[in-house]
Amino acid sequence: MIIIKSGRDIEAMRQAGAVAAAVLAEVAGFVAPGQTTKAIDEFAASRIKSYNAKSAFLGYRNYPCHICISVNEEVVHGLAGKRQVLYGDIVSLDVGVLYQGFIGDTATTVVAGGCDIKVQKLLDVTEQALYKGISQAISGNRVVDISQAIQSHVEGNGFSVVREFVGHGVGRSVHEDPQVPNYVDGKNSPRLRPGMTLAIEPMVNTGSPAVKVLNDGWTVITQDGLPSAHFEHTVLITESEPEILTCREKILSSSKAR
Ligand code: MF3
Ligand code: CO
Ligand code: CO
Repeated sequence: MIIIKSGRDIEAMRQAGAVAAAVLAEVAGFVAPGQTTKAIDEFAASRIKSYNAKSAFLGYRNYPCHICISVNEEVVHGLAGKRQVLYGDIVSLDVGVLYQGFIGDTATTVVAGGCDIKVQKLLDVTEQALYKGISQAISGNRVVDISQAIQSHVEGNGFSVVREFVGHGVGRSVHEDPQVPNYVDGKNSPRLRPGMTLAIEPMVNTGSPAVKVLNDGWTVITQDGLPSAHFEHTVLITESEPEILTCREKILSSSKAR
């Protein structure tokens, strides 16, 4: 059952989304070569707390960390630990916060230092695919229109989309109906209506789409060991254009002052 949010719930979703976005921006700025994933998770925990919010992931199905940190071949649900981020690694950060009863869910993938051009293209195409999907998040369309836009952009650029994990409705719970696949699955697809809030989240692999879960029960990696990227926004379906609830403010350089 898809939950349609009312005016007041939408206002709360906006605030939860803003907190998630702010935390993600701060954590992204913290990632650097030499940091352990544990240190990044602890930094995230302190930032979440500073907004009087709670991690929506900690304890969710017994997930043991505050955010999901997935490095290189790790696709999603990476566990923080002693692993050190190295120069050239890509680090996916997925933040879910509970704030005033609602959840904001958002992810990005950043480079530690510098990377080669193929990896940069993976990040660019994945982020572009997210926005192609969001552009289809319009009342009257179906969920599959989002899926199709993402899949065609990704595959048209020579990359592949993960099948086993999908986007989702989000609200008082992390995962609500409907599922939002990043590929056309041929199943009946719900019609989008104003007041739906969706987490749209392409997971894109450099090589094969195949993934596996490690023995820790959480960490999802690519079967071929090649890098994977993940970008995610929480989006509100409106009467007109989609509203991104997890926009990060861009901090502009001081070039204007010069
Ligand atoms: N980050 C996932 C999503 O965006 C959910 C993570 S659940 C957790 O849907 F338990 F792994 F944290
Ligand atoms: Co997420
Ligand atoms: Co999500």
